Amino acid sequence: MRKVVCPGSFDPITFGHLDIIARASSIFDEVVVAVLVNRTKKSLFTVEERIAMIREVTTVYPNVVVDSWSGLLVDYCKQNDIPIIVKGLRAITDFDYELQMSQINLQLQGVETLFMSTAPAHSFLSSSIVKEVGSYGGDVSSYVPPLLLERLKTRLALNMNQQS
Ligand SMILES: Nc1ncnc2c1ncn2[C@@H]1O[C@H](COP(=O)(O)OP(=O)(O)OP(=O)(O)O)[C@@H](O)[C@H]1O
Ligand SMILES: [Mg+2]
Repeated sequence: MRKVVCPGSFDPITFGHLDIIARASSIFDEVVVAVLVNRTKKSLFTVEERIAMIREVTTVYPNVVVDSWSGLLVDYCKQNDIPIIVKGLRAITDFDYELQMSQINLQLQGVETLFMSTAPAHSFLSSSIVKEVGSYGGDVSSYVPPLLLERLKTRLALNMNQQS
């Protein structure tokens, strides 16, 4: 069985993430979406909220499962018998870091990384840009699944209030 992991912070999940997850799910037997807990990165949604949101928008893909992990991704891979990491590549700016990470992961635990090129429509899309645009009241409806829009707007508004 070919099992892969799509890692990220997913704060929140965007159409860019979803596109990679959907395409991976059509190629591999099982896709684990792993929410990586990064203590140095301030997040808008809790890990539990992010997991719930990913589950809601991936129910149409029966071979997608969602999990979280705090620690080295390759340790998660070893522990769960996952030989391959699947990542989306948006632009040349992603490349340097991703190449470095993939080489380290291969050396540390023999875990391979496969890159999928982003759909052109999503090449500029990141969770950060969605949060930035949304926090100024911009329309983010083409960036995140409709199911999550209200939750995102409410949380961003709450955040803005707390900061002011
Ligand atoms: N628009 C996109 N197109 C293709 N892949 C994407 C896109 N956005 C994210 N990804 C993939 O998802 C992985 C996890 O991304 P991450 O959680 O860092 O999302 P992000 O949108 O880059 O968020 P942040 O702005 O917080 O860094 C990335 O390494 C990349 O492989
Ligand atoms: Mg990122």
